[in-house]
Amino acid sequence: MYRLVYISTPKRALGSDELLTILAAATKNNRRNEITGILIQDHKRFLQYLEGSEDKVEETFARISADPRHFAISRLKSGSIERRQFPGWSMASKTVDQCNSLRDAVSELVKDCDRDVAAELLSFAEARDRAG
Ligand SMILES: Cc1cc2nc3c(=O)[nH]c(=O)nc-3n(C[C@H](O)[C@H](O)[C@H](O)COP(=O)(O)O)c2cc1C
Repeated sequence: MYRLVYISTPKRALGSDELLTILAAATKNNRRNEITGILIQDHKRFLQYLEGSEDKVEETFARISADPRHFAISRLKSGSIERRQFPGWSMASKTVDQCNSLRDAVSELVKDCDRDVAAELLSFAEARDRAG
């Protein structure tokens, strides 16, 4: 199993309808490509985790990277992991409002994950929270 984590900046604040459009495309394509993962949005950034076969994950990430709805896409981590972490989610998502931390959103989603993967995602979220 291969996973990739990146962070990016929305071109402009996305409305919930726009986010639903993104999630609809993600769900449709990810199901076909056997990709699962999570997408978290706070008021300034997207943090996304994708897992599946290396080919499909990289192909999907290339498509996502070319999407004009966000920019400053930065790969935080990629490589193999032992097993799929989000088997039930073509793309789980959470929007963090101004009062809550990205870390809290991540910690709700990683409850069933392996400890090392959960720790990695939490550390990315904490770094992002510290950056303000
Ligand atoms: C933040 C963000 C996350 C996205 N996540 C996914 C994803 O997980 N899977 C996917 O196929 N497309 C995702 N997309 C959408 C792709 O960039 C692209 O619009 C879509 O894959 C095109 O699919 P279509 O040709 O079926 O319309 C995402 C876009 C953004 C802005």
